Amino acid sequence: MKRILIIPVIAFFALAPNLGFSQTTKKKTSTGVKISTSSAKTTATPAEIAEGKALIAKSDCLACHKIDTKLVGPAYKNVAVKYPAIAENYDQLANKIIKGGAGVWGQVPMSPHSSLSLNDARKMTKYILSIR
Ligand code: HEC
Repeated sequence: MKRILIIPVIAFFALAPNLGFSQTTKKKTSTGVKISTSSAKTTATPAEIAEGKALIAKSDCLACHKIDTKLVGPAYKNVAVKYPAIAENYDQLANKIIKGGAGVWGQVPMSPHSSLSLNDARKMTKYILSIR
């Protein structure tokens, strides 16, 4: 009796990757990470993205960055192309905004923003990486 139950279970797990499961995850990544989905890969909410946009408008960012053309710093659209919208990149870029630095897009450095909180800087990156 037990064996009759176990076999279908094993068969299910063996076949599962060939069913819809792997295809649905592929679809999500190939169309870009959608901010409105609850995928584990993205943690940006529409509210955080809106806050990030407002924080950028209040700060000095737009003196050096534009959405779609390079100014002193890279266009935000190009930053969004380079870095997928995942938690790891939010943290890495938030720290870069706070500390400043050069070498990724050229030799011109970004000025440090040491008065920004990590949380606010992270919201800014959530907005930047949501730009499509
Ligand atoms: C003085 C000009 C300047 C200001 C002000 C500035 N940036 Fe930058 N930013 C740069 C430059 C130059 C780079 C490229 C740095 C590099 O090549 O590593 C850059 C890079 C970046 C990157 C990509 C970092 C990477 O490692 O790929 C992000 C994100 C960013 N800036 C966000 C911001 C935000 C948000 C603000 C406002 C709080 C801001 N920047 C203010 C000049 C500036």
